Amino acid sequence: MEEKKTVFSGVQPSGALTIGNYIGSIRNWIDLQDDYNCFYSIVDLHAITVPQVPKDLRKNTLDLLALYLASGLDPEKSTIFIQSHVSAHAELTWVLNTMSYMGQLSRMTQFKEKSKRSEENLNAGLFTYPVLMASDILLYQTDLVPVGEDQKQHLELARDLAERFNNRYSETFKVPDPLIKKVGARIMSLQNPESKMSKSDNNENGYILLLDSPDIINRKIKRAVTDSLGQVKYSDEQPGVKNLINIYSAFSRNSIEEIESKYEGAGYGQFKKDLAEIVIEGLRPIQTKYDDYMKNKDYLKEVYKGGAEKAERVARKTLRKVYKKVGFIPR
Ligand code: TYM
Repeated sequence: MEEKKTVFSGVQPSGALTIGNYIGSIRNWIDLQDDYNCFYSIVDLHAITVPQVPKDLRKNTLDLLALYLASGLDPEKSTIFIQSHVSAHAELTWVLNTMSYMGQLSRMTQFKEKSKRSEENLNAGLFTYPVLMASDILLYQTDLVPVGEDQKQHLELARDLAERFNNRYSETFKVPDPLIKKVGARIMSLQNPESKMSKSDNNENGYILLLDSPDIINRKIKRAVTDSLGQVKYSDEQPGVKNLINIYSAFSRNSIEEIESKYEGAGYGQFKKDLAEIVIEGLRPIQTKYDDYMKNKDYLKEVYKGGAEKAERVARKTLRKVYKKVGFIPR
């Protein structure tokens, strides 16, 4: 039997999740579970690169685990774990830090944006954040990384670091490929379709959260920015409408063409009404299951403990190889 290929991905537990996170990443993880050996992490080490209130971080971490499960991740099929439970992530990061060029790290778009936003808290963790992400991926000998468009540059760094290490020492890491979907890899703000949908947006009408109530979803979609052309067309001239079509397509699994022809001649009113309904119905089962999981903390604990054990075994094996190759004496 051919061995299954490996998938790795993660989300930061830094607050409520948007439908951008869901469409760009988690939703795509579900289908991979049967055919791949999947590792899905809650990346709490990444989250502390911006200041976190400890009790909120604890809550957000469990919240995210419940959302993973409610979205359809299955601990029987995939390894679901909390990043800080597997210390190899931090350890490999140190080694890879010594092989990362300051120049390359300072060209990372996300770092440039974040450093503009938080000049007074420009910590070193924010700068080496992509190296930690590379460690996440490389520890598991990952073949594929399903992410949204905004992570592409970080993936390139992970590939560079794998190749650099392999060239300097000898074949150690698999060089991972990104898995970025054509539709939905970049969901934009509902208020400003030029910028990506993000939970750090100051205007809460710009994003829809996975746990938003039907009323709120209705209101946010009704207020979403469109244009004066009045046609449901997937075109760069209509970025607001294009974004809404992407969301429609992601939740209904209808193709862009199907959506365009369905709304030919119709105005934005009907389209938005239907879209709100589709999003509300799409999120409803997730919200219900989320509530159930949050009531069962013992089960959540069982899942993250089991996941950490499985992840640890794989990660340690890679780290042992790395330590040996760089010349550390085994204990
Ligand atoms: P994070 O937590 O910012 O986002 C999680 C995932 O959601 C995707 N995403 C989006 N997709 C489409 N449209 C949007 N508006 C949108 N906003 C966010 C992101 O692309 C991501 O896939 N560094 C990562 C977490 C991470 C990771 C990893 C990912 C850490 N280690 C290893 C993959 C592999 C991050 O900050 O994602």
